[in-house]
Amino acid sequence: MSTSVVTVIGARPQFVKAAVVSLALKEAGVKEDIVHTGQHYDEAMSGAFIRELGIDNIVAQFACGNGTHAVQTAKMMTEFEGYLLSRDALPNFIVVYGDTNSTIAAALVASKLHIPIAHVEAGLRSFDRRMPEEVNRVVTDHLSSVLFCSSQEGVEQLKREGIVDNVVDVGDVMLDAFLHFSAIAATNTQEEEGTNKNKPFALVTIHRPSNTDVDENLVALLRELDSVQDYDFVWPVHPRLRERIKKFSIPNNVLLIEPVPYLAMLNKLGKCAAVVTDSGGLQKEAYWAKKPCITVRRATEWIETLEGGWNQLYDPTCQSLAAAIGELPKTPWKSLYGDGKSAMRIAIELRDRLSTAK
Ligand code: UD1
Repeated sequence: MSTSVVTVIGARPQFVKAAVVSLALKEAGVKEDIVHTGQHYDEAMSGAFIRELGIDNIVAQFACGNGTHAVQTAKMMTEFEGYLLSRDALPNFIVVYGDTNSTIAAALVASKLHIPIAHVEAGLRSFDRRMPEEVNRVVTDHLSSVLFCSSQEGVEQLKREGIVDNVVDVGDVMLDAFLHFSAIAATNTQEEEGTNKNKPFALVTIHRPSNTDVDENLVALLRELDSVQDYDFVWPVHPRLRERIKKFSIPNNVLLIEPVPYLAMLNKLGKCAAVVTDSGGLQKEAYWAKKPCITVRRATEWIETLEGGWNQLYDPTCQSLAAAIGELPKTPWKSLYGDGKSAMRIAIELRDRLSTAK
């Protein structure tokens, strides 16, 4: 019987992570089929990414992009279970990424079908259970058979939760992607469109429900962006905010644009002076690009980035953005989260485990 893995992806950052691991699996001779839950489905959130990243082994795609958490997760579980049972044979491993509803849905289905789960980005914690991602991470880790951590901190956290077997610090696959694709993105040397050439600009992304769904927080953020007139702010707007943002008055130094694909995002990151975000991934990408980052959250699971002030946690309702943006990192930049060779470590680890399953 031949062995194989099934990878489950669904949301934007998972396309980036899976793309580099998928390449490494191919190189390592591991057969991989990819299932796309359809959690993200827009051309800008999904199609453009998949093409640009060269993901070519998606064998099934569902339409689970809307609804409450329960509706979305339940739909994904039903579809994914149906897919697995329709195959000639169950895969030997399910590979899941990060902390989205696609991750937990796939993990729950796989565990009930007794398929071992490999979790990439295991052991991360924000310790904020009001974030749906925190719930997804904790449950997925506790269901997983192999846990790939992005740093030693993840390994230690899992140990504190009693998970010590099959935990491997492989580094961060997003660094692999960042290094590979930012070299390509940098070849576009066009100036940033729509901004004042005499001012620096900061790149803004906001998509966490705690920021997007609470008027008071959005109003405070817009007010603070307005107060820093010596910067322009370029803000690709996540679909979660597309309609809601229309009811607020947008400061003249804020440029709202459509979501951008990965290469364009890396290009903007290369050109910007700072980042303002509530994204997990962008906090690290800002760090790797050596740009100061202001994180609009109460906690981050990427705590290493906070050292020396490269990344600052920020609350617009009670803190000044001008003060935060004026604060320069206090320690020299050092490399974090591996060496850019994480995808191959994951592929080799899985290949070795599959060879004993043959
Ligand atoms: C999800 C993840 C989050 C991750 C983020 C990356 C969960 C719980 N959250 O959040 O961890 O950081 O993806 O972007 O899994 N929508 C569209 N078109 C799309 C995608 C979404 O219009 O292509 C709209 C839908 O109306 C949806 C809303 O945006 O209801 C939110 O999308 P959803 O996938 O539920 O969560 P995200 O906020 O994207």
